[in-house]
Amino acid sequence: MSRGKLRPVFKRLWLLAPVATLGGGCFFFTGGCEWGGDGTVELTSFISSLSSVDGGALTADTPCEELCERVSFGTLRSCSTYRTSETSPEPDKVSCVFDSVNCDGRRPEGLCSDGAVVQGTPVLGVLFAKIAHMEAASVPAFERLADELTHHGAPEHLVRAARRSAKEEVRHAEAMASLARRHGASMPELKVDPFQERSLEALAIENAVEGCVRETYGALLAGWQARSAEDAQVRESLSAIAPDELRHAELSWAINAWAMERLSPDSRERVDAARCEAWRELEHDAASSHLPDEVARHSGLPSAEVARELVRELASELMPGALA
Ligand SMILES: [Fe+2]
Ligand SMILES: [Fe+2]
Repeated sequence: MSRGKLRPVFKRLWLLAPVATLGGGCFFFTGGCEWGGDGTVELTSFISSLSSVDGGALTADTPCEELCERVSFGTLRSCSTYRTSETSPEPDKVSCVFDSVNCDGRRPEGLCSDGAVVQGTPVLGVLFAKIAHMEAASVPAFERLADELTHHGAPEHLVRAARRSAKEEVRHAEAMASLARRHGASMPELKVDPFQERSLEALAIENAVEGCVRETYGALLAGWQARSAEDAQVRESLSAIAPDELRHAELSWAINAWAMERLSPDSRERVDAARCEAWRELEHDAASSHLPDEVARHSGLPSAEVARELVRELASELMPGALA
């Protein structure tokens, strides 16, 4: 991809983002929420607090899959209904276990924390805490990248850009942690294993997956949310973050161009294969990223259908054929 291509693509796609209308309702999920150690999140809700798509009541006889559609937070892995008291004549609560929402950022190798928050945290707090965690994880990812670029003899301007990106990610993490706190969540712990030295090919593969695909899509989403979020603080925070993220995405592609020139044909093939697979995974994640309507409106995140289309548009521009 030639340098300078990203901005016009982003500008065209950002114009498709619906502009937020003022006065939208705030949403606070009143049920429980717990992150599992296996990358799942369990949401529980009283059945009586849920309503069907057409506004009708849902009951204990409604299949749990249907109940979970109303609290959807990703791809449903399992569900069940249960009684909260022995005196309840029938199940009054539903438990829905989802694959966890993917919040994009540059994940460092060795990341072993998952942004978990305490049980009972409102869903918006869970969402922003997870994003804050990924922003914080991007800091060591860029610091390591800068060190490795130096080690592999990259031009100084790429090293400087990586160091500057690390500093910007600190600000992003603080902004998202502030939103998380506003919704009752504290900043999750960040744990990253110590880094080991690695080859230029390994660096290029991580950059292709985390930078050229995931962070590039994250940058597109940041600009989208800056336009569409009904919450003014979200719009303000994302308006400041989006230009940084666009530069991070451009940096990924610049690093990619530099690294590919130095790799053997076999290595280049492996980098391209990893990038292609990352587009496919991202498309799958986007297509299953069902958020409750109120959460989507508040945060400005697109619906699953729109998210999938955005991923496909982006991939067709940046890596034609990846999602053919
Ligand atoms: Fe960021
Ligand atoms: Fe970033």
